[in-house]
Amino acid sequence: MKSFAIFTSALAAVASTVSASVVKGAAEGFAKGVTGGGSAAAVYPSTTAELVSYLGDSTPRVIVLTKTFDFRNTEGTASDKGCSPWGTGSLCQLAIDKNNWCEVDTNNAPKVSSITYDKAGEVGITVNSNKSLVGQGNKGVIKGKGLRMANGVRNIIIQNVAITDINAHYVWGGDAITLAGTDMIWIDHVTTQRIGRQHIVLGTSASGRVTITNCDIDGSSPWSATCDGRHYWALYFTGSNDMVTFKGNYVHHTSGRSPKVQGNTILHAVNNYWYDIDSKGHAFEIGQGGYVLAEGNKFQNVATVIEAGATGKYFTVPSSGSVCSSYIGRSCVSNAFGSSGAFSSADTSFLSDFKGKNIAAASAASAVTTASVGYGKI
Ligand SMILES: *[C@@H]1O[C@H](CO)[C@@H](O)[C@H](O)[C@H]1NC(C)=O
Repeated sequence: MKSFAIFTSALAAVASTVSASVVKGAAEGFAKGVTGGGSAAAVYPSTTAELVSYLGDSTPRVIVLTKTFDFRNTEGTASDKGCSPWGTGSLCQLAIDKNNWCEVDTNNAPKVSSITYDKAGEVGITVNSNKSLVGQGNKGVIKGKGLRMANGVRNIIIQNVAITDINAHYVWGGDAITLAGTDMIWIDHVTTQRIGRQHIVLGTSASGRVTITNCDIDGSSPWSATCDGRHYWALYFTGSNDMVTFKGNYVHHTSGRSPKVQGNTILHAVNNYWYDIDSKGHAFEIGQGGYVLAEGNKFQNVATVIEAGATGKYFTVPSSGSVCSSYIGRSCVSNAFGSSGAFSSADTSFLSDFKGKNIAAASAASAVTTASVGYGKI
């Protein structure tokens, strides 16, 4: 009898260790408290169809990726008219003429008669509420299709996954991660590479509380709008009631929108590393309704940290950070700059928006490292 009891409790201990270790750590900042699929037993999809089904059904799930899921050619190809706003050089992106973009937004750029692209990339996989999507070791890769969280879904964790190769040649070829009407989303240790449109886009409807940590936003691409191997469309944070904690991320080899912030969005950018942002472009673009607290970040080889003419508000700790204490309960930490342009604003008029919220901790900018960013590092 006694040995039986020991046996069952040992089994229970093993089971709880396994489920507790699937998602590593916990979100800090605005999405603190997100649980995703919680303690649901892990499932291991083996096909793209099974992955789509697990992500989209209405059961709380912990979904573990143990291999590459390649969606290219799973939905066929489409051909559309397009344009070449940046020329037809071999390094330039072309644009699919979506919603008359070629006529309206690019001032009638020269037309390209036909663009053939992979249909799977156009729209991301639907992710429903209460899901954890976690890569195992360095095996969790999704190619050719992104993830889409929309229409009121909440409580989702995406961790340790790479999302790559979404019609990278073509603007409007697809986004890696889309939020359009969400709350409580944590994106952690995710790598994005070779994407047609945005690496991460928080659309115009409210994205609610979002934490993005330790991600590798890699803008290196054979095709870009700047025709120089640097992707222009990286991070687009617009929205109507968005609170974004952006911490410990590595944003590099981009040429614009890294990030673009506007709408009604408060962004806490802390302890990130911006590296080698094209001198033709910029890192931050802050438009109307964008409110940015940037502290403890490192900028290296970022000629233009912020695009001129910002109409949003931002605070970058230009002198003593102690002014932050009454808003976030601690001093703000200085940013650090190496061979980079200015990023200086003492505007504290919006910092009261941060009061009473979950605020991520900050280390000195000198402690920022890229050693464990992206997938395959936790
Ligand atoms: C997610 O979990 C919450 C809390 O348990 C529940 O109220 C909600 O219905 C769940 N949503 C879905 C789509 O399962």
